[in-house]
Amino acid sequence: MSAPPLAVVILAAGQGTRMNSATPKVLHPLAGIPLIGHVVATAEALEAESVNVVVRHAAEEVAQAVADQSDGVVIVHQDEVPGTGRAVEVALESLDASIADVVVLSADVPLLDSDTVRAVIGLHRDAGAAVTLLSAIVDDPTGYGRILRRGDGSVERIVEQGDATAEEREVTEINAGIYVFSHDALTQHLPALGHDNAQEEKYLTDVIARVVAADGLVHAVQVEDAWLVDGVNDRVQLSEVQRRLNRMIVRGWQRDGVSIPDPDSVWIDLSVTLAPDVTVLPGVHLEGHTHVGEGATIGPDCTVRDSDVGAGARVERSVVHDAEIHAEATIGPFAYLRPGTVVESSGKVGTFVETKNSRIGAGAKVPHLSYIGDADIGEGANIGAGTITANYDGVNKHRTVVGAHAKTGSDNVLVAPVEIGPGAYTAAGTTIRRDVPAGSLAVAPVTVKTVEGWVAANRPDSEADIAARSHSPGSAQK
Ligand code: UD1
Ligand code: CA
Repeated sequence: MSAPPLAVVILAAGQGTRMNSATPKVLHPLAGIPLIGHVVATAEALEAESVNVVVRHAAEEVAQAVADQSDGVVIVHQDEVPGTGRAVEVALESLDASIADVVVLSADVPLLDSDTVRAVIGLHRDAGAAVTLLSAIVDDPTGYGRILRRGDGSVERIVEQGDATAEEREVTEINAGIYVFSHDALTQHLPALGHDNAQEEKYLTDVIARVVAADGLVHAVQVEDAWLVDGVNDRVQLSEVQRRLNRMIVRGWQRDGVSIPDPDSVWIDLSVTLAPDVTVLPGVHLEGHTHVGEGATIGPDCTVRDSDVGAGARVERSVVHDAEIHAEATIGPFAYLRPGTVVESSGKVGTFVETKNSRIGAGAKVPHLSYIGDADIGEGANIGAGTITANYDGVNKHRTVVGAHAKTGSDNVLVAPVEIGPGAYTAAGTTIRRDVPAGSLAVAPVTVKTVEGWVAANRPDSEADIAARSHSPGSAQK
């Protein structure tokens, strides 16, 4: 027998006032994706007939974020009537009449996993309940709706923080905002809800008392791990949820063979993948679609986003965006690899070096104080300290090509488009405006004029003069 048809409704229309943010609450990031993305993923794992997201505040932005993650989600627009009850009511209109049960999730409860929701659906169906909701016993119930039970332990109703008496506020069993409703219970009770309450909203939670009054069965299932249903209403709660999920991610990688000596200082997005025997040192942020290969060491103090780091590579105190670092390459300390940088195997990008849209060939080195943009550095080449590719003529960007095993002198400016041939050398302090053929030396004719005795004439008896005199051949005589 196939399971009765199920629909999921995700509530995401609220303003998120308590965030005090220009960004809609449900779009604040958590481990690299927006809050609502976590809830959409949970909903999709339930394999329901449909997943519906109710939007209103910043509706376009929220709908776009949902669409970016998933094609199959239905967007429902809430009207001007406020409240979680109204949100579900408008969603009902887009549900197929055949739907038996409706799972309601909150877009601001991001840590809840699909296994827990599935268990609640199972309990709901086994009991033939009209409503099964998740509750939790918490130390500080402030802000949450409280579950009020009768003497026999059965659920009587839910009271919101703003409407609760002092005595009701003492109740530590809170409503998690996660429910399974029979479709019938919703169609029967939602239209009748009023908004005579502290927030002047149609509360979804008021459905509970109505179901109870109509002799329907309401179950509140307590989750053991209360953190699973932590809601995000302000930035304090957001940071708590961020820290908790990050700890779980970090622990997962530690168990898979990654060394992370200071887990609290390391932040890893959900989309990152790490090979065994990677070491992640303190102060490292691994973001987006980043992969780190076996035995590589990242840190301390690095940000690596949407990048590939090869096996055995070493990245220290550097920022890496949209780059590829191949096996055994070394980066930093204090390097900035910008999009389109490829450092091939055993290549080096050293201290105070910025790269962009450039290939550093196998074993090639850019050790100190350089800007390498739109360049191709050949295998085994060595770029002298202080070398700058002048890649931009004010209108267009041009490429610089340095051949295999070429060596540029210190303090060179390579004015693109320009090519330094394989095995060529350039002298220190040279501005290269024309191509340098393979195997040749480029040196600018510079005449350094020496004016002898200038210090004695112009800075007599200065420390420089005294030093110079004590060094002159005459002073050495007794
Ligand atoms: C809600 C519950 C409360 C529960 C808590 C759990 C109600 C009345 N209260 O309170 O019992 O303890 O969640 O986290 O349901 N939303 C809409 N449309 C609206 C208003 C809100 O879609 O008109 C969405 C919000 O975007 C949010 C969710 O519903 O994702 C919950 O809204 P919120 O205002 O955060 O409710 P709480 O005060 O947390
Ligand atoms: Ca909330």
